[in-house]
Amino acid sequence: MKDLTVVRTVADLRHAVGEFRAAGRTIGMIPTMGALHEGHTSLVQGALDRGDVPVASIFVNPTQFGPNEDFAAYPRDEAGDFAKLEAAGCRIAYAPGVEEMYPGPQLTTVTVAGLTDGLCGPFRPGHFQGVATVVCKFLIMAMPDRGYFGEKDYQQLQVLKRMAHDLAMPIEIIGMPTIREPDGLAISSRNRYLSPQERKIAIAMYRELTALAANVRDGRTPCAKAAAESAQALLAAGFDKVEYFDVVDAESLAPIERVAGPARIAAAARLGRTRLIDNVAV
Ligand code: PAF
Repeated sequence: MKDLTVVRTVADLRHAVGEFRAAGRTIGMIPTMGALHEGHTSLVQGALDRGDVPVASIFVNPTQFGPNEDFAAYPRDEAGDFAKLEAAGCRIAYAPGVEEMYPGPQLTTVTVAGLTDGLCGPFRPGHFQGVATVVCKFLIMAMPDRGYFGEKDYQQLQVLKRMAHDLAMPIEIIGMPTIREPDGLAISSRNRYLSPQERKIAIAMYRELTALAANVRDGRTPCAKAAAESAQALLAAGFDKVEYFDVVDAESLAPIERVAGPARIAAAARLGRTRLIDNVAV
C-alpha cells in the first residue's frame, strides 16, 4: 500500500492519527464491516469533501449479530477492501482482531433507549447495543472530528447521532445519502446473497417505498393503512416475509398516522436467505 497505512492495534491507530493531527489535519472516521462497495467509498468521499483525513475501520463485529444471523457467512475480503479504500483516497485502515476490540470480559455497553424500540429493534434483539458499543469504542480509539455513516441504515444513524449527543462526544455524526443501483436497489454487502431471480424481485422494495412516500406526502392519507398495502405489494412481488413497513418521525422514529413534518418510510423484508432493509425520506 502506497498511500494507505494499515494498522491493527489501538496504539498504532492513535500514532497514525496523531501524525495527521500534528500536521493540523482534521479526521473523518468511517466505521465499516468490510465487504466494501460504492456506499462505503461515498463515505470516504464525504470525508474528503469536508477536508478530513479519511480513517476507515474494518471489523465484522460479533456483538451486533444474533445467534441465528449471518456472522460466520458475512462476506470478508480484506485485501480487496484495502485496495478499494486506497483507490478512494482513504489514508488509514484500522483492521483490528476481536482480541484488540474486546480484550477480556467486557462489562460496559452502550444502550440507546427509545430509538431502538421499533423498526429493526424487535427483530434483532441486542443488535443496536452491539453497534452503539463498538462505534463508541471506535470513536474513542480514533477521536475523529466527524463520523460518517450511510442513511441506508437509517435507524442506526439516528441511534449513533443520539449516542454522540447524549454522551457529549465532541464528534459530529454525518449521514450520507444511500447509494443505489440504476434500478433503485440500495447497494448493500448482503445483496450478493441474492439469486438472479431474487435480484429481480428485490427492486420492489424501493418501488413500494417511493410509491408510499408519494402517497402519504399530502398529510391526509392515513399512514398505517397505506403502509399495510405496501407490505402486501412486497409479498405479491415475491418477497417471503415483511418484518415491517412503517412511516415514522424522521428523528424520534415513532410511528406517525399522518405526515405533518419530516418523516421517513422504512421497511425490512426477507427474500430467500437475504434480509433486505431500505428507507426513503417523505
Ligand atoms: O453499518 C455497519 O457496517 C456497522 O453496523 C458498523 C457501523 C460498522 C458497526 O459495526
